[in-house]
Amino acid sequence: MVQKTTIHVIDDEPIILEVLGELLTSEGYEVEISSSGEEALDKYSTRSFGLVLLDLLMPGMDGIEVLKKIRKIEPHAVIIIITAYASVESAISAMKTGAFDYIQKPFKHDELLLTVKRAIEHKKLQEENIRLKDELGKKFSFENIIGKSTGMKSLFEVIKAAAPTRSTILIQGESGTGKELVSRAIHQNSNRANLPFIIVNSGSLPPDLLESHLFGHVKGAFTGAVSDKKGLFEAADKGTIFFDEVSSLNPETQAKLLRVMQDQEFMMLGGTKTIKVDVRLIAATNSDLEELIKQNKFRQDLFYRLNVIKIELPPLRERKEDIPILMKHFLDIYSKENKKEIEGITEDVTEILVNYDWPGNIRELENLIERAIVLTKSKLITRETLPPFLLSSHEDTQILSSPNNELNLKEYIQIQQKKAIISALKKTKGIQKNAARLLGVKPTTLNEMIKRLDIDISHLS
Ligand SMILES: Nc1ncnc2c1ncn2[C@@H]1O[C@H](COP(=O)(O)OP(=O)(O)OP(=O)(O)O)[C@@H](O)[C@H]1O
Ligand SMILES: [Mg+2]
Repeated sequence: MVQKTTIHVIDDEPIILEVLGELLTSEGYEVEISSSGEEALDKYSTRSFGLVLLDLLMPGMDGIEVLKKIRKIEPHAVIIIITAYASVESAISAMKTGAFDYIQKPFKHDELLLTVKRAIEHKKLQEENIRLKDELGKKFSFENIIGKSTGMKSLFEVIKAAAPTRSTILIQGESGTGKELVSRAIHQNSNRANLPFIIVNSGSLPPDLLESHLFGHVKGAFTGAVSDKKGLFEAADKGTIFFDEVSSLNPETQAKLLRVMQDQEFMMLGGTKTIKVDVRLIAATNSDLEELIKQNKFRQDLFYRLNVIKIELPPLRERKEDIPILMKHFLDIYSKENKKEIEGITEDVTEILVNYDWPGNIRELENLIERAIVLTKSKLITRETLPPFLLSSHEDTQILSSPNNELNLKEYIQIQQKKAIISALKKTKGIQKNAARLLGVKPTTLNEMIKRLDIDISHLS
């Protein structure tokens, strides 16, 4: 259960206390009233309040002083100033001291309730941010790898245990699940941390060129080899070499790699001398190597050599509980990078992102948050900053669910209409005239409905 926010109303005028007390209670808030700054501050010795409505002009301790004192006791208190028209100036200075907003007396009830609602939302975001920051700072990260799911927690244990050894590690995971990140963490936590970490993109070069890169070549080994050149294995000596997408190595290179692993030595292309190296190997792949072995595309003996310690990175859709802290992690990184102060991510965005199935895994999530931060014009990440395809896939699933008790009949009908229209537009590739025929309405009616129901048609054609 979410704890209810208690609103602390501080004002010296009994009538204001009475009106506010009644109004806020009738809206379901819990209210505590104090008729002076002194009385208000006394209460903080035994309890706390998330939200404060504070009058600026009071006999005795004035509002600004009360505000500062509350701030000292509760640095995250959200404080709304109530002020008479004449003292707007001091309300502005209160804002500078960290008040959330101010309301002028006499105030309209709706206006006050709206400000209170906004303040409570702000408070909720703030609390969520603090909680996520706590989680990120403490137990749910290891070397920039974030995760609180059981899978990730046991991964941290494996990394901690395996890193200091010399064992070869095979990392398997879909694209964007963090294979490179994990391999760097392993290197960083080994006694090789200050020595080279070399990445080999196994699939990026034609085999001959790759071998010359890996093992080096002597002068004259092939046309264009005008001098001796050291390879990556030599460069990685005493350090770690990371073979990314190891499944794309061709059979000859696989055989050579196997030999280096067995003997810790190799020869340069065209050379006659063996070169000894001490290299720790980490390999990564997003394919199923066992399947490739069956198809004779990957050597079984190499697989056994690589597969000493296996780390399987789960896809993001299988550890959805990690999504909110990953969002917060990337929010921190990219708001700093873009020099934007972002307060948080709205609840509906979190819901959409948690429900999405992330074929591109964490890289896709990272890109999406970066994009949202660049696009947002406010201090919040709202649904407007999400790419349209995410909104439409979310709408589809929402619409498909049956009406719940909180929906009234009108809303239910609108949802069903929206569902039918979206489906007809999809079937007709966005051609409204054809969709209207399918739905049995006039094109003008359909067009009017699209506008009224606020249907985003940009992605439906
Ligand atoms: N658990 C995680 N916590 C924080 N950031 C992560 C995590 N996993 C991945 N990332 C980030 O996601 C991005 C993609 O990760 P990485 O490049 O390691 O994935 P990969 O598995 O090597 O992908 P590919 O197969 O496409 O090469 C990187 O920016 C990385 O920092
Ligand atoms: Mg990678």
